[in-house]
Amino acid sequence: MSYAEVYGTAMADPDGFWLTAAQGVDWDTPPSKALFTDNAPLYEWFADGRLNGCWNAVDRHVQAGHGDRVAIIHDSPVTRTRHAITYAELQTRVATLAGALRARGVEKGDRVIIYMPMIPEVLEAMLACARLGAIHSVVFGGFAANELAVRIDDCRPKCIIAASCGVEPGRVVHYKPLLDGALGIADHAPAFCVIFQREQEVAHLEEGRDVDWHAFQYGADPVDCVPVEGNHPAYILYTSGTTGQPKGVVRPTAGHLVALNWSMRHLYDMNPGEVFWAASDVGWVVGHSYICYAPLTFGCTTIVFEGKPVGTPDAGAFWRVIQDHRVKCLFTAPTAFRAIKREDPGGTLAGDYDLSSLESLFLAGERADPDTIEWAQDKLGVPVIDHWWQTETGWAIAGNPLGIEGLPVKIGSPAVPMPGYDVRILDEGGQPVADGTLGAIAIKLPLPPGTLPTLWQAEERYRQNYLARFPGYYETGDAGYKDAEGYLYIMARTDDVINVAGHRLSTGAMEEVLAAHPDVAECAVIGVADHLKGQLPMGFLCLNAGTSAAPQDVVAGCVDLVRDRIGPVAAFKLAIVVDRLPKTRSGKILRGTMAKIADGKTYKTPATIDDPAILDEIAAALGKLGYPRAH
Ligand code: COA
Ligand code: AMP
Repeated sequence: MSYAEVYGTAMADPDGFWLTAAQGVDWDTPPSKALFTDNAPLYEWFADGRLNGCWNAVDRHVQAGHGDRVAIIHDSPVTRTRHAITYAELQTRVATLAGALRARGVEKGDRVIIYMPMIPEVLEAMLACARLGAIHSVVFGGFAANELAVRIDDCRPKCIIAASCGVEPGRVVHYKPLLDGALGIADHAPAFCVIFQREQEVAHLEEGRDVDWHAFQYGADPVDCVPVEGNHPAYILYTSGTTGQPKGVVRPTAGHLVALNWSMRHLYDMNPGEVFWAASDVGWVVGHSYICYAPLTFGCTTIVFEGKPVGTPDAGAFWRVIQDHRVKCLFTAPTAFRAIKREDPGGTLAGDYDLSSLESLFLAGERADPDTIEWAQDKLGVPVIDHWWQTETGWAIAGNPLGIEGLPVKIGSPAVPMPGYDVRILDEGGQPVADGTLGAIAIKLPLPPGTLPTLWQAEERYRQNYLARFPGYYETGDAGYKDAEGYLYIMARTDDVINVAGHRLSTGAMEEVLAAHPDVAECAVIGVADHLKGQLPMGFLCLNAGTSAAPQDVVAGCVDLVRDRIGPVAAFKLAIVVDRLPKTRSGKILRGTMAKIADGKTYKTPATIDDPAILDEIAAALGKLGYPRAH
């Protein structure tokens, strides 16, 4: 079947299409139908089926005789170690961990926060939760204690599973002290914490609350998988919204397994037994879907890589991993390739390795710039596929389905919608625009299986954030256009979310932190273009009248404050003190215009501006900082 036929079938007969796809996973009770519309515009998939995520990702492969197949390869240049875990070993480890958790009272529906770096134990912890029907929430290691505390208070975990430390090039990340700090801030207290002690830093355990990972599991009886309803939440993953309160995206168990399993063959062109590598972090949605659940459910080998594209030890790290583990498909963010290209522009290091196993490179997480795509195509000689998705959707909204047919690549476009996504480009009034015209990208409801049905205990926020602006549609928050052949082009966010090194960050959340600085009267944060990370946050600070603080001290204080409150991942290092911020007459800060000035783009002085002279002041301040930059 061609892509057009597959897409057409999914649109014409969603129930038939997704029930067929659902045969790719194991059910304890098959669903009576695919789509449940009773609560529209909130939709659910496979709600009356029963299945288990861990069974599908682990046990069923052992039962099918593939227990000796490698499930996880841990390749860690930062600790100079690597080892492999077979499906049979993984089953034993996960069943035992789940047994120990159950013995301490963790049951179906309980939440478990997981705060761990890129080690196999993070996948084991996720799968142990899935085995019990407990709902995990993985928190990325680059967040500060405060962000962890916000998540603890929102999902109220019965238990937290953490590692003693993470290892970043040149520094140890003190996970356990960060966890202690978070528990000091949070109102909610988990019943207990399980700590995986790494040899790079052995953490102090608090008696009565913390237990050692190994001691905890000693003598525990392994447990079987608990079947859960198809709409039971597999996990909650927090993502940036427009404020400091992150949004808890809920992932339903069945839809997520069905869609991910489908995508492995049809989008990524994989077969069971082959090696799939998503060079991301389990703290992000890409890691949830394509380091953990998709490759394992499909019976592939997945790689947990604890390193960076450069500096661990050099810009050949990715090529080394591809060669050593015979990777067939690599999935990463364009930033990683920009980093490699910057260190090794000629791509000479790629010539030192045998890359013959590699058949495709998939990029996502941010806009893939043409230079990077062309460089990767040239150096690797395989299809380089941009695909577009969000934490909310859990899998690609648009891509080039290599497993159905490789469509012509149009550089700058993540190609065409995946089955079940009815993508429309709308104007301000919600009317469709002509091909080639920029508009808000919306998806006609229902969204396909695997996508978010709601936000964790915040249904009203879900409705307001995603469903209210265009009734009958899901608002993606991205702007772009479609060409005459149906290819999509994703151009910008329509909200205050920015994308730094493939990481989604909220400028609103940073503004909340800056506003808390005692010398800051008013502030604005925008994203400015960066040749490595795509965007970087930049703060504009107006100081309190009469303050005696030196501007450079306030800037340094603000940089420290954001690192301390949000975390190093915010990469907030640029800030300028200005006298005034440009605003409309109604008081709205003109962030978009400021971003255009910083990026050296042409802009129109908004008719509603209060005082146009402020734009010149902003341009002068940016000029002192070297903006706009030459690219
Ligand atoms: N735990 C703790 N800290 C972390 C972290 C983690 N898991 N991941 C990143 N950080 C820290 C970094 O150490 C850095 O701290 P610093 O300010 O002290 O240097 C900061 O957060 C910013 O990290 P990052 O934006 O990743 O920048 P970098 O300079 O360390 O690395 C790249 C640049 C391009 C190599 C890196 O961003 C990269 O590999 N990107 C790939 C993107 C990706 O995987 N995206 C996921 C979505 S697909
Ligand atoms: P996240 O939820 O962190 O995955 O971020 C999702 C956002 O990243 C999207 O809404 C887009 O703004 C951006 N994004 C992801 N993939 C792409 C892509 N292929 N092209 C352009 N933008 C992308």
